[in-house]
Formats: sequence, C-alpha cells, structure tokens
Amino acid sequence: MGTVGIFFGTDSGNTRRVAKDIATILGPSVAAKPVNIRNATVTDLLAYDVLILGIPTYGDGQVPGLSTGNATESWEEFLPTLIGEDFTGKIIAIYGLGNQKGYPDEFIDAVYYLHDQFDSCGATLIGAWPTEGYNFKKSKAVEGDHFLGLALDQENQKDLTPSRVSAWVASIASAWAA
Ligand SMILES: Cc1cc2nc3c(=O)[nH]c(=O)nc-3n(C[C@H](O)[C@H](O)[C@H](O)COP(=O)(O)O)c2cc1C
Repeated sequence: MGTVGIFFGTDSGNTRRVAKDIATILGPSVAAKPVNIRNATVTDLLAYDVLILGIPTYGDGQVPGLSTGNATESWEEFLPTLIGEDFTGKIIAIYGLGNQKGYPDEFIDAVYYLHDQFDSCGATLIGAWPTEGYNFKKSKAVEGDHFLGLALDQENQKDLTPSRVSAWVASIASAWAA
C-alpha cells in the first residue's frame, strides 16, 4: 500500500497514462494505484499526506467535466465538494495535459484552477516547472517563469513527456522527503 495518492481526470486517456507512468516510477511501496477522480471522494484524498493530481484542460481553458463535453464526470464535478475542507499539512503536486499549439492562449489553464482550489483548502503546493521549452502565448497556470505544476503536451511534444515526467517526479520526491 503506497503512501502517495495519485488521482487524475481524463477524457481521451492521456492523463491516465501519465498517472500510471508516475506510479511505475515511484514503485508500489511508495505510490498507490492511480484512481480516476470521478470515482473518488474528498475522504479518499485525505487518506494521503502526499498527493499527485493530474488534470487535462478542456473547453476554452476550463476544468474538464460534463460541461466541457467529457464523456464522464471529472474534476469539474469534484471541485465543489472541496469547499470548506481542510488540507493543511497535505503536500500536493499537480501535472497538467494540454495542447500549446491548438490552445496557445489557454495552455493548461485547468492547472491554475486546481492549484487555486487546493491552495484555498490550506494545502502545500509543490512541483512548479520551468516554462522554458514550450511555445504558447498565455496560460493562467504560469507564475513568473514557471508553471504551477508539470506541463505536458501529447499533441505537440510527445517525445519530451517521458524525460519531463521522470525529472519532475524526482524533483517532487526530493521536495516531500525534505
Ligand atoms: C475539445 C477540446 C478542448 C481542449 N481545450 C484545451 C485548452 O483550452 N487548453 C489546453 O491546453 N488544451 C486543450 N485541449 C487539449 C487536451 O487538454 C489534451 O488533448 C489532453 O492531452 C487531453 O487529455 P486526456 O486524454 O487525459 O483527456 C483540448 C482538447 C479538446 C479535445
């Protein structure tokens, strides 16, 4: 039973595949089996002291869910259940899937909304990632020269995903061990 919880939303499977890769990198003694957020409750998340959360962006820079045309419920339906919950002492790292060429003004915007919500609940957010090497115009998920979490683009930079994921996992693992 792992001590790090991994929860993701997905419509076409990219964010789930990355969740599985992260779990493989960390190994079963560290990472719990990834769970789709549509099957999870706030209590399930609070069972872990460290959480890795994956979110794709849909619509025009929106959190995914039924209103953005996803086939199932996702983060959109989960987020309201967080209101008033206390994540003080919880460490959270977010990764986001997006398409910087197709949506250059809203690249991985959903990462911002997830980050903001867990920040409001008192969580400690880690896992910022440099914006260097991406080509987009605007993103709500940028602060200075970093994204608020790991940015991945399977449409345009698929080849870079494995090395980005392994470098990011190594960096967040050393941050939560500190
Ligand atoms: C209808 C639609 C809208 C999208 N909107 C955005 C967007 O606003 N910003 C962005 O960065 N990516 C956007 N994307 C790209 C997806 O986030 C990307 O394809 C992602 O890998 C999908 O993840 P999933 O396979 O886990 O569902 C959109 C994709 C689709 C199909």
